Amino acid sequence: MKNFKIAVIAGDGIGPEVIASGIEVLNGIAALDKSFSIELKHFPYGCNYYLEHGEMMPPNALDELKHFDAIYLGAVGDPKVPDHISLGGLLLKIRRGFDQYINLRPVKLLEGAPSPLVGVNPSDIDMIVVRENSEGEYANVGARLYRDTPNEIALQTGVFSRHGCERVMRYAFDTARRLNKSVTSISKGNALGYSMVFWDQIFDEISREYPDVETHTLLVDAAAMFFVKNPKRFQVVVTSNLFGDILTDLGAAIAGGMGLAAGANLNPEKKFPSMFEPIHGSAPDIAGRSIANPLASIWSISQMLDFFGYEQWAVKLINAIERLLVEKKTLTPDLGGSARTDQIAPAILDIVANL
Ligand code: NAD
Ligand code: IPM
Ligand code: MN
Repeated sequence: MKNFKIAVIAGDGIGPEVIASGIEVLNGIAALDKSFSIELKHFPYGCNYYLEHGEMMPPNALDELKHFDAIYLGAVGDPKVPDHISLGGLLLKIRRGFDQYINLRPVKLLEGAPSPLVGVNPSDIDMIVVRENSEGEYANVGARLYRDTPNEIALQTGVFSRHGCERVMRYAFDTARRLNKSVTSISKGNALGYSMVFWDQIFDEISREYPDVETHTLLVDAAAMFFVKNPKRFQVVVTSNLFGDILTDLGAAIAGGMGLAAGANLNPEKKFPSMFEPIHGSAPDIAGRSIANPLASIWSISQMLDFFGYEQWAVKLINAIERLLVEKKTLTPDLGGSARTDQIAPAILDIVANL
């Protein structure tokens, strides 16, 4: 029997609340399937760990984490710790250190999920955003000069490598070819005359390797407008790290809210573990009240099962989420219900068992 070893970093704020639900669902599915088992190890890394130890994770954390099949992450961030320290010392360190260069974020409106857009239905919002996840605007190369003087300067450089652009674009094209969908590249070559012109040039080159795949290119400002005005035009989207970050919160907003948006940080070659997480943060405004929506975390379990090769369970889980949304009996307050966080996983498992 295949055994999957999963490192759990529940993290801060609502992280532990929503992760508990995801784990309950994962264990429930493993019990139903019987052909694989799950072995979890919890790591206490996060802002409380930082406040106690002065670092978000111990220096050898990646050496320890690299032996796992996957990492399941809740959320990171606490008002008591500056965000660039907490995120730079944990989430971004893992993404970079494990070369999780693909951030796969479905933006899919399920039946029953609320959208603030007028007159849209599920067939209008069904895209896969492939966000570059290892370099670009997030490379964190820069400097602070002349600190605390009137001449103070901050420099932050984007790093776009040919290798980095080619691999994320090929991933998007391979996905589109497999699903018979179009690819839209989103960039900003009209203003960023080095990095984004380079991105556009490489997209043009790679698209010639896939003459059977329909392609589109958009500037990011116009793309943001079309996410709202005409989301149907997007199928597979490939974009840079920062643009992908911003556009997928917008994507979450049009497809049911932050409580439903999941993301997979993939190292497709499986040289390192991949990491699965909801795309939302630690939501300090609602933490500790058992009202956080765990469906994004549960959706990321679907992505994990898919990555492990259990596509049928991945699909079943999305169908179960959809059924829950349509039935409207067990939903958290962000979706108009009055259920507590810990009531969602049992309801999902009930549906899964009867699908
Ligand atoms: P956030 O995503 O935590 O919250 C934005 C809004 O969405 C809040 O009103 C929150 O209550 C709501 N929300 C988010 N998830 C929800 C859920 N599951 N159910 C119901 N409502 C939900 O973003 P923020 O407020 O900008 O950031 C808070 C902290 O989280 C910051 O420290 C930030 O740096 C960090 N952050 C971490 C991650 C991560 O760990 N992956 C992602 C984004 C932000
Ligand atoms: C996300 C988050 C992170 C990002 C932050 C917390 C560093 O917003 O996963 O979307 O910008 O990638
Ligand atoms: Mn984000």
